[in-house]
Amino acid sequence: MQRILSGIQPSGDVHLGNLLGALQNWVADQHTHESFHPIVDLHAVTVPQDPRELQAATLRLAQMLMAAGLDPDVCVLFVQSHVPEHTQLAWVLECTAGFGELRRMHQFKDKSADMDFVCAGLFTYPVLQAADIVLYDTDVVPVGDDQRQHIELTRDITQRFNARYGEVLVVPEHRIPPAGARVMDLQEPTRKMSKSAGEAPGTIWLLDEPDVVRRKIRRAVTDSHSEVRFDREAKPGVSNLLEILGAATGSTPRDLADVYDRYGPLKNDCAEAVVELLAPIRQRFAELRADPAETQRALATGAGTAGEIAAATMGRVREAMGFLPRR
Ligand code: TYM
Repeated sequence: MQRILSGIQPSGDVHLGNLLGALQNWVADQHTHESFHPIVDLHAVTVPQDPRELQAATLRLAQMLMAAGLDPDVCVLFVQSHVPEHTQLAWVLECTAGFGELRRMHQFKDKSADMDFVCAGLFTYPVLQAADIVLYDTDVVPVGDDQRQHIELTRDITQRFNARYGEVLVVPEHRIPPAGARVMDLQEPTRKMSKSAGEAPGTIWLLDEPDVVRRKIRRAVTDSHSEVRFDREAKPGVSNLLEILGAATGSTPRDLADVYDRYGPLKNDCAEAVVELLAPIRQRFAELRADPAETQRALATGAGTAGEIAAATMGRVREAMGFLPRR
């Protein structure tokens, strides 16, 4: 069975982009792959976090992932900081990654652009991500389009490591879904839907009530001409709605473009498809909130399973690199 790993940050709530670009594919994959899903709290602290909020957000995200369908009895769901090997391997890979290649990361450039203080961790963030992946001998990394460059970097670092120390690490591949890989902001469809958008009307949160979802989609920015066509450059707003509807219903944006000749019905169907997708998640989330101990137990089990594999990989790495064993 192939092994999958993909993580998500506990910063802000989960939005529709996370669900369509990543999470819903993880839910399907867990039955056909050995799946590992870390909640990457160490990545979250590359920007300032309120300690108490981080703790609450981490548990809440675990409940959200389970509500969306990740089953901790089927996949390995855990908290990144519970497995110390992530940072151990990250250090080793930092000594394998080049300063120049990290400087080329789009996400670093975007995130650091408006910051007064940029911590070194934000710069080396993709190396920690590489460690998350290779620690579990991962074959496939299912992610949204914004992570493509990070996974390509992971491949480069891993190949360089193996060239130096022997075939120690598995070189992973990314998998980006045909629809939903790039869900854009509903108000600014040239910008990706993101957690940092706050309460903005351009982001749909997984816990949004049906009427809120309908309102946000009804008010989504479209283009001045009324023709329905999938063309991200010329018609970003309409293309985004086609993309969302496609990802929510298992169809492709191009096929859907042939079905509609006006914006109104497209918006209506898109809203109803999203409402239908989110309803069971909201309900299950409320149930899980009532019993936090159940989620904490699941996370402890996940960390136990993950930790065993991580320790074995780190053992191989230490030996290959020539660190003196502790006797
Ligand atoms: P994060 O937490 O920002 O996002 C989690 C997943 O959601 C996808 N995603 C989107 N997909 C489509 N449209 C969007 N607007 C959208 N926004 C987010 C992301 O591509 C991602 O798959 N660096 C990662 C977390 C990470 C990770 C890893 C991922 C840490 N270690 C190891 C894979 C493997 C991140 O910040 O994702």
